[in-house]
Amino acid sequence: MRRVVCPGSFDPVTNGHLDIIGRASRQYDEVVVAVLINIEKKSLFTVEERIEMLQAVTKEYGNVRVDKFHGLLVDYCRQQEIPAIVKGLRAVSDFDYELQQAQLNYRMSGVETLFMATGPEVSFLSSSRIKEIVRYGGSVAGLVPDLVQDLLVERLRG
Ligand code: PNS
Repeated sequence: MRRVVCPGSFDPVTNGHLDIIGRASRQYDEVVVAVLINIEKKSLFTVEERIEMLQAVTKEYGNVRVDKFHGLLVDYCRQQEIPAIVKGLRAVSDFDYELQQAQLNYRMSGVETLFMATGPEVSFLSSSRIKEIVRYGGSVAGLVPDLVQDLLVERLRG
């Protein structure tokens, strides 16, 4: 079984995340989308809400499982017998941070990190920008799944 993890905060999932998850699902037998439980970071959606959204929008892939984790990602990988992490790279600005994490994770555990170039049509997306646009009345249609857009509008403008 070739298994890989796509980790993140997913607050909320965007079409940029889905681009990477969908493409990873075509390369691997199973993709585990792992939502970080981070009590220090203020989030818009609870971990359970984020998991529900991810489950709904990845259902069609068939080989994607959604889970949560806390602590070190490499410890989660070890527990789940996942040998590699897939990360999307949007731009050079992502690279410094991701390289350091990848090297540390490999040094700590031998878990590999594989970088996938984000599709150019979604490479400008981030969850924080999406929330900002919705908060100030803009439309994020086509940038996040419809279900996520509805929940964002409800949460931020309701
Ligand atoms: O979507 P994000 O917030 O950019 O995701 C970052 C994430 C969850 C991949 C990263 O923060 C992470 O792996 N956190 C778990 C803690 C950990 O393992 N830290 C050591 C990294 S060297």
